[in-house]
Amino acid sequence: MLDNQLYKALNIQSDNELKNVAKILKIPLSTLKYYAERNIFPSEADANKMCEYLGIDILELQLKLGSIDYNLLKKLMNHSKEIRSLIEDEEPQEEKEKKSVDLVFTTDYGKMYKGDCISLMQTMESNSVDLIFADPPFNLDKQYESGYNDKVSEQEYLQWTEQWLLECVRILKDGGAMFVWNLPKWNTYISTTLNRYLEFRHWIAVDIKYRLPIKNRLYPSHYGLLYYIKGSKPNSFNESRLPLEICRHCAGDIHDYGGYKDKLNEKGINLTDVWDDIPPVRHSKYKTRGSNELSLKLLERIISLASNEGDTVFDPFGGSGTTYIASEILKRKWIGIEIGPTEAIKQRFEDIEWQREYIKDLQSNSNVLFTEKIKKKRIANGHWTPETIGKKKEKQQSLKI
Ligand SMILES: C[S@@+](CC[C@H](N)C(=O)[O-])C[C@H]1O[C@@H](n2cnc3c(N)ncnc32)[C@H](O)[C@@H]1O
Repeated sequence: MLDNQLYKALNIQSDNELKNVAKILKIPLSTLKYYAERNIFPSEADANKMCEYLGIDILELQLKLGSIDYNLLKKLMNHSKEIRSLIEDEEPQEEKEKKSVDLVFTTDYGKMYKGDCISLMQTMESNSVDLIFADPPFNLDKQYESGYNDKVSEQEYLQWTEQWLLECVRILKDGGAMFVWNLPKWNTYISTTLNRYLEFRHWIAVDIKYRLPIKNRLYPSHYGLLYYIKGSKPNSFNESRLPLEICRHCAGDIHDYGGYKDKLNEKGINLTDVWDDIPPVRHSKYKTRGSNELSLKLLERIISLASNEGDTVFDPFGGSGTTYIASEILKRKWIGIEIGPTEAIKQRFEDIEWQREYIKDLQSNSNVLFTEKIKKKRIANGHWTPETIGKKKEKQQSLKI
């Protein structure tokens, strides 16, 4: 807990020292802990107290805390030569022992490894994968079968996040796409890193309620799906259209399309950056393991959108293997890795057929305004369809003649 930039800056090494320093600085202990644990730069008054205590100025405090605004960044850039030489003089860090990764099984299209994703990526060539999808742990103190520690300090989580992100950036091909699934809070940091190397395309809000409402907060109801590409032009962008949203009971319209019905594209509605049709995986038939499994529908959409058959997909955080199953079915080569047990993923491949059917069904229900089933229900309930609108128009025109 005390391995933290602010504590280091204030030379705090124990809980007792922390209490003492808080007393000397006349900053409540809880506020000091808040700054440290949440990586928040202290308020002006508190920053001044710290500077006085340390005998430094604000600029040095900013540097010590790694809180670099544009003003300071400009100064650093202007002194790049001197700073570079200072860094050169530092002792080289001892290289950490490389963790091994093991190939556990292969399929027609994929290779599944067990181990640490960063170690695997370090063995992969630069510019070698077409699409990356990453759904990392969220540092929420969840229990993982791997025993993975999901509650580290924010600083540690963010450092680790930057490390795997940079490896992903390196192995992504020019024109390749990278998607990251996370809580909006972590996505704000992830974007700060990715914006430096990749081209931002979208922050897709995927409407899934994942917690109970929290007092004094808005009800969190979306995950952020970040979508970036390497370079300015995507290699693949296969946009598919969605059916019109209709009433679940009577299959009638939810919105009033007035005189615009005949202008609606018969292939369906444009995909937007708000996805509210992705189900949480709850049904036991569709759920293959613990609580972190994502919907195949989500992965089918991402992989179909941003890659083509024969492309290579990489997902550094295997979980139950949703990305790998979807890639296999969609005929993409894939590379998978999971630090925890991989038996459930293997089992999922042995049971791939119903998942193939599920994806086939999804695909037959896209790029149409109404599915055949819905069309029948609409006709039975007296609602319009593209065909009835076409007939009405023809009739009006013949009356005009
Ligand atoms: C949120 S889950 C991914 C769920 C997955 N998207 C799915 O649909 O099943 C994150 C997974 O990453 C694994 N993990 C954590 N750290 C890892 C690492 N360094 N390398 C590889 N896998 C890791 C965890 O064990 C966990 O299974």
